[in-house]
Amino acid sequence: MNVGVVGVGYVGLVVGACFAEMGHHVICLDIDQHKISLLKSGQVPIYEPGLYEMIKRNSENGRLSFTTDLKEMLDFSLFVFIAVGTPPNEDGSADLSHVLQVAKEIGQNINRYTIIVDKSTVPVGTAQKVKNVIKEELTNRGLNQIEIDVVSNPEFLREGAAIEDFMHPSRIVVGTDHPRIAALMKELYRPLTDQGYPLLQMSIFSAELTKYATNAMLATRISFINEIAVICEATGADIEEVKLGLGSDTRVGMAFLNAGLGYGGSCFPKDVKALIQTGKEYRVELQIVKAVDQVNSQQKQKLLNKVLQFFGEDLHEKVIAIWGLAFKPETDDIREAPAIETIKELRRHGATIHAHDPAAIENTRVLLGNNGIYYFDDLYEAIKNSDALLLITEWKMYQEADLSIVKKRMKYPVLFDGRNQFDPIAMQKAGFVYYSIGRKK
Ligand code: UGA
Repeated sequence: MNVGVVGVGYVGLVVGACFAEMGHHVICLDIDQHKISLLKSGQVPIYEPGLYEMIKRNSENGRLSFTTDLKEMLDFSLFVFIAVGTPPNEDGSADLSHVLQVAKEIGQNINRYTIIVDKSTVPVGTAQKVKNVIKEELTNRGLNQIEIDVVSNPEFLREGAAIEDFMHPSRIVVGTDHPRIAALMKELYRPLTDQGYPLLQMSIFSAELTKYATNAMLATRISFINEIAVICEATGADIEEVKLGLGSDTRVGMAFLNAGLGYGGSCFPKDVKALIQTGKEYRVELQIVKAVDQVNSQQKQKLLNKVLQFFGEDLHEKVIAIWGLAFKPETDDIREAPAIETIKELRRHGATIHAHDPAAIENTRVLLGNNGIYYFDDLYEAIKNSDALLLITEWKMYQEADLSIVKKRMKYPVLFDGRNQFDPIAMQKAGFVYYSIGRKK
């Protein structure tokens, strides 16, 4: 089947490459000439495991191509996926201007029946808005007879595991009220459903809301376990033991119960806030979701608070080493990353920062600059003569680090572990002063 994808950001590229891999013919479009030129010359502007190889393979076999020409893409495609960004507005609601601009341009250029698929994360009611915008443009062109349908097909991809998630989905959610469209969407996803992956057809509103409900539920589990970590610290219980006991209940499960510095990234923080705004719009107060957001903001400060408690407020004489800048391992993404806020606050208190991350240094340098922040390619170099080490992102290399070297290199061996990567007793035996989240000192 012929598929067009608008937007070669993270989601659009993964979706386009994966549909090509499934045997469809795909054209990916973007207005950014630079990105399209890169992709045409075999380069991939983002890092995602397996994506480069998949794009190369499918470009070479002719199933995947890139363009900036919307007409070319529309003439080719039965399905057009909208996969452009929905950044937050000031009030937390989702900014739909990119999505609606794409809809407008589709309406101005479309010449035949097309199924428009919302892949971007968009609030309830967006599919209808997209349809209205396209219809209006068709009316302006005197082409009322051209039919279009708009489907909601949210994505549930995790950064760092996006291809795995797309090719082995826990479910495919398709929101449409028309059986004929549902049948076409099922045909599109048949290479996956034939392998047993479930496709859930539902109303458009339900599909749109399912995306937010899923992210809010996962964020809730994280804020919940982080709140339990607080009571663990207050009472002397150990969050890792409690997590094991709690998650072993098959009704609860272990996933997304890692206490830490809260959730970051481009999705959970934004989607939780957008859901609260949708509630407001419909005069519904989402009390739990609001609390999830609040707990998460506090959680990001947890390591900083421990550092200030240890050293006092004035950090002018202190060199603080940071391990991990990305919002999670296996990505260079620093959006809403706890490390960024922590570094800003440490700088405000006068500390000099020695930062290490295997992927996110460049992005951090662009965002925070060099003033008082030194960046290191080697994790052991970063801790030389440091007064404290903060582990903020749980890259595997940190857990595997040689602690005897760490101890030797630091001026004073105090480790603040924001991701509970080490055993407190072993750390004590190794001669460290060790602080972590929700566990005894
Ligand atoms: C998340 C969802 O997992 C995807 O299903 C969804 O498609 C995506 O958002 C999206 O809406 O686009 P992602 O943001 O890539 O994916 O990252 P996750 O692996 O889910 O982690 C999110 C945050 O939660 C990270 O900051 C991570 O450190 C934190 N986290 C996760 C915890 O603090 N504890 C946990 O137990 C799990």
